[in-house]
Amino acid sequence: MSAFDLTRLLPADHFSHALRHDVQRGLTASPKWLPPKWFYDARGSELFEEITRLPEYYPTRAEREILTGHAGDIAALTRARTLVELGSGSSEKTRLLLDALRDLGTLGTYVPVDVSESALEAAGAALTADYPGLAVHAVLADFTRGLGLPPGGGPRLLAFLGGTLGNFLPEERAGFLRMVRAALEPGDALLLGTDLVKDPAVLVAAYDDAAGVTAEFNRNVLNVLDRELDADFDPETFEHVAHWDAEQEWIEMRLRSTRTQTVKIPALDMPVHFEAGEELRTEVSAKFRRERVAAELAAAGMRLSHWWTDGGGRFGLSLAEPA
Ligand code: SAH
Ligand code: TRP
Repeated sequence: MSAFDLTRLLPADHFSHALRHDVQRGLTASPKWLPPKWFYDARGSELFEEITRLPEYYPTRAEREILTGHAGDIAALTRARTLVELGSGSSEKTRLLLDALRDLGTLGTYVPVDVSESALEAAGAALTADYPGLAVHAVLADFTRGLGLPPGGGPRLLAFLGGTLGNFLPEERAGFLRMVRAALEPGDALLLGTDLVKDPAVLVAAYDDAAGVTAEFNRNVLNVLDRELDADFDPETFEHVAHWDAEQEWIEMRLRSTRTQTVKIPALDMPVHFEAGEELRTEVSAKFRRERVAAELAAAGMRLSHWWTDGGGRFGLSLAEPA
């Protein structure tokens, strides 16, 4: 018998309030910015899945390669009964972990946590069909607001894959890792996927593909504002920019207004002026080195116990435990 349920951790109106708050704050700042979680409406989640299949976007394939090689080790090391995954999306790569834990015989429950309800529903339907006996307890939540992990069910493995940790700014990242540490009980472990510093040309191509899918994904956040806030952004008047910041070691995604324009956001009673060429920051994607991952885990009270990379050394997968 398999089972799927979805819990909304936040009140139903949370997301509309949070979106208003974020847009008000980010679009009155200088330079303008928006938090990345608003990319992921149903269309955004679909576009992200398309990104993971692009020839230029290596992180998904590199992380899958590591999981293919080491899911058995991870299962043996953690003997997890509950697999919790933050920002689970389609849960495609997660199947490698589910398979390994199932083969070991420890797996009982999978808890995917995401802001995208459509992604949780689709992943839940696919997994319950393919994993009879697995309880899938999906959680619709904003992991920047708390993890809301159900207690017990240990040992638990908390997975945070896809390099999503890199989408936080450094200070948010430190706070997030402390929150993760606080959620871990003795015997629990964290599995963390981080994209690594490499040739800037390879990095920029991964975030500015030839087919323009990433550009469409980036502009999709404007469609979300148009729909949810009745704004009148014309996404076609913004071009996608992927910039490598060598000092911060992150890729910065921006939307550049191709003309001088004033956008109306009636839900906020707010006109937003853009100069021609003005850029709005939509996301950073930090790239890591092993030493930095170890140091940031240590600063949050965790110990890096295992580190794996793909054959090309492009992506790092860390296993960590409460220190
Ligand atoms: N883990 C998947 C998806 C990575 S994309 C993979 O490796 O391919 C990032 C995922 O995190 C998306 O599914 C997005 O909906 C989710 N996400 C982004 N911000 C979030 C937030 N604040 N809270 C919860 N989920 C978030
Ligand atoms: N977590 C992904 C990453 O940093 C998200 C992502 C991939 C992304 N491509 C993007 C976000 C393009 C914005 C724009 O790699």
